[in-house]
Amino acid sequence: MARTKTIFACGACGNQVTKWVGRCTECGEWGSIEELAPAAARAAANGLLSSAPVPIGTIDLSDVARRPTGVAELDRVLGGGLVDGSVILLGGEPGIGKSTLILQVLASCATRGEVLLVTGEESAVQVAGRAQRLDGDCAPVKVLAETRLEAIVAALEQHRPAVCAIDSVQTLGSDLLDGAPGSVQQIRQATAELVRVAKTTGITILLVGQVTKDGGLAGPKLLEHLVDCVLTFEGDHLREFRVLRCSKNRFGATNESGVFEMGPTGLVGVTDPTRLYLAEVGERVGSCIYPAVEGSRVVLVEIQALVGPTEVIPPRRVAGGVDRTRLAQVLAVLGRHAGRRLGDQDVFVSVAAGARALDPAADLAIALAIVSADRGRALSGPPAAFGEMGLTGAIRPVGHHTRRLDACAAHGVGTVYGPARNGTPSEPFEQPVADIREAIDLGAE
Ligand code: TYD
Ligand code: MG
Repeated sequence: MARTKTIFACGACGNQVTKWVGRCTECGEWGSIEELAPAAARAAANGLLSSAPVPIGTIDLSDVARRPTGVAELDRVLGGGLVDGSVILLGGEPGIGKSTLILQVLASCATRGEVLLVTGEESAVQVAGRAQRLDGDCAPVKVLAETRLEAIVAALEQHRPAVCAIDSVQTLGSDLLDGAPGSVQQIRQATAELVRVAKTTGITILLVGQVTKDGGLAGPKLLEHLVDCVLTFEGDHLREFRVLRCSKNRFGATNESGVFEMGPTGLVGVTDPTRLYLAEVGERVGSCIYPAVEGSRVVLVEIQALVGPTEVIPPRRVAGGVDRTRLAQVLAVLGRHAGRRLGDQDVFVSVAAGARALDPAADLAIALAIVSADRGRALSGPPAAFGEMGLTGAIRPVGHHTRRLDACAAHGVGTVYGPARNGTPSEPFEQPVADIREAIDLGAE
């Protein structure tokens, strides 16, 4: 059996040291350092040892400090800010703006202590070049061009930055880990080690991960379970705006989104994304506005449909930004309960400007856009619609009714078709509908 190195640990705080000392270097306790038993030492060497179990009621919640980064759209997605000692994975396709975002975040966090950018993909000179373009003051951000894990961990333990960003996780490697440098195996082990460092030191670590168009082999998917929070930066290269979404968050909700515009001086937060998604509010054939709820705000998006005779069997059903299965269900209900059989027609439905309307509350807006396209007549309004459509054609209530109405009113919508509620409609433009037939009678006839 391999000889296990002797390891000592502090009984008070769990800090590990390689030789005995009278006073813990971490918590300052005297006489608390003890030699670990061989099994515990092996566990510690493998990074498995944690501090002693404690009753849940005695845990101090003020330890979970959440600090706003100052980049408002990121703070919104994170649920208020970065939590000390947490590890956040930021994924996205090359060129989407990950390196720009983390540099801006570090610059914004620099007021609260040292911030470190570890760059493996670009040289320090390249990073400095980007910093020059950006609006904020990047001068205090420290840069370390390094890919070796041990060197990075040593730098973290020595400098103890408040926030450290590593760009990117794919460049990390070590001669001491199993597998070849840059392999999936090494990236996972390196990430696990960084998570350990974050937890023991309280340093917040932002990891950048590349995702290739086909999902990526060494992509963030393999790391999701290791980290506290997974963010994805999405967008269209041709358009200048980018959406930050959260698919996992141990410290907050995952339903918020952050919207940025990429400009000549970096990313600028967009407080009212409706202006990006909605060119104009009006009456157009095959068009219906949908008030989508994205966490704490309502974003109006335009659902567009095109219906035309098909030349192929089966006819095309193309969904962009809407759920394919829900589109199939909407078409089935329209055929069965509203007399709109489109079996010999191609149907294209998409959300304008690359936005998304994936939840069932978009059913009614999708259905009305399709009916309008099929009839070649605009819905009366200017129209907006929301509500889930059941298999019987009934329009069911959805959450955030009033907030959706308010957002429609603020943007000049004329008529909002939606589920009926108790009492009289709260706004003159609110048009309650019991089922899809009634919605079509009122809006599309
Ligand atoms: P980058 O952050 O390098 O993307 P990633 O790290 O995700 O690969 O930047 C992506 C693009 O953004 C790049 O093509 C240049 C552009 N850009 C701007 O338009 N304005 C700017 O101020 C900066 C810094 C970059
Ligand atoms: Mg980059």
